[in-house]
Amino acid sequence: MTTAAPQSPIVSEREIQAVVELMRKGEISVSPLVSEFEEEFASYIGCEFGLASNSGTSSLHEGLAGVGLPPGGEVIVPSYTFGPGAATILAARGVPVFCEVDTETHCIDPEDVRRKITPNTHAIMVVHVWGNPCDMGPILDIARKHDLAIVEDCSHAHGATWHGRKIGSIGDVGCFSLQGSKLVKAGEGGVLTTNSRDVYERAAATGRTEKISTFPADSIFKQCPPLGSGFKHRPHPLGMALAREQLRDLDERNEIRDTQGTRLDAALAGMPGITPQLVLPDCRRVYAYHFSGYDETALGGLTLEVFLRALKAEGVRCSRIGYGRLHNVPLFEPGSPYQEGCLGTCPHITATKALACGPLPQTEYLRTHSFGVAPRFEVDCPELIDQYIRAYHNVTSSVDELLRWQVENTDKVQPVEVSGRSLNPV
Ligand SMILES: Cc1ncc(COP(=O)(O)O)c(C=O)c1O
Repeated sequence: MTTAAPQSPIVSEREIQAVVELMRKGEISVSPLVSEFEEEFASYIGCEFGLASNSGTSSLHEGLAGVGLPPGGEVIVPSYTFGPGAATILAARGVPVFCEVDTETHCIDPEDVRRKITPNTHAIMVVHVWGNPCDMGPILDIARKHDLAIVEDCSHAHGATWHGRKIGSIGDVGCFSLQGSKLVKAGEGGVLTTNSRDVYERAAATGRTEKISTFPADSIFKQCPPLGSGFKHRPHPLGMALAREQLRDLDERNEIRDTQGTRLDAALAGMPGITPQLVLPDCRRVYAYHFSGYDETALGGLTLEVFLRALKAEGVRCSRIGYGRLHNVPLFEPGSPYQEGCLGTCPHITATKALACGPLPQTEYLRTHSFGVAPRFEVDCPELIDQYIRAYHNVTSSVDELLRWQVENTDKVQPVEVSGRSLNPV
């Protein structure tokens, strides 16, 4: 390939100016800009309340506190997600109960959610993984029937929609990462959205103590001195200035990214062994990350390792996957370095082991049968997409040759263990 992949992140001159302006004003710790961003973000998502924080992880923690998770309350969450996101359930004194994902959408499997409900279940944490909206209809039905809260992890899904509604406005609370690799970037940061005053106040009283003074007089939090709960999740205003500018361009930038991603997926869908992530009807996904299913049986048994090596030789920036291991990682099991005290030996967590370790065959399958297709394309680049399509075509049409190479080089292509991060370059 000749054309270099456009670099992400793109930081515009306007964004630089917004940050510099705050520095000139000396608003490097407290700034009214943070509330302005919160209002603008909430309004973009279609929610009454927005609450910014210093990370997506913090926003998830606040979101769980916001829905009133009691100590030991169970939260059903896919194992196929970003580990620290699920670990916020532990931080919020809850018990993660890992569930399956659907192997076509890569998102939470509502049928398995039904199976995982117990009298202790308090919430479902859905993850709109890689920017693809979850099957929210059945999730809303389950939540209504069993009186459960829905926490949406929207870290990949800024601007995505489900049935015309923005992701982040469908459950009780939407939690977004604004970290530097996300679609709206603060460098490091997060923001949550909700239509519930109760959720907002609980969340803010957990991580943004200074907000308590802005609560109406009848707020339950006005009864206690405004000390908060011992967490400080306040965001950095400079990051918020950057995120605020990024939000203004989000729709336009999503349009560009999604045009490139859709074009590539349309071509890949016609090639053997590659099954792009299924987008459900009446949903709009965003191409925060570009992953696809892989079926070696359609390519005569060509292993994913060899397939990725061949793509890399063609110049494709593809990656392995690290999601889908949480039901087996030591953090959630006895013997972890976190064993002492609340994360390890209290009865709530001892229960986690039994709950966490049910077999998750769909998740295991997806973990070993999916891969990162391409980097994010931040600019309109039809020639580069054509090169990617040609590269994929070259590999999928050279199966006999690649299978011969695979037989002769078994020692060189053992499956590689990858980390839990989303992108694991080949
Ligand atoms: C699905 C998901 N949830 C939560 C997070 C946590 O966000 P942050 O890194 O901003 O804490 C991430 C970050 O990559 C993520 O991908």
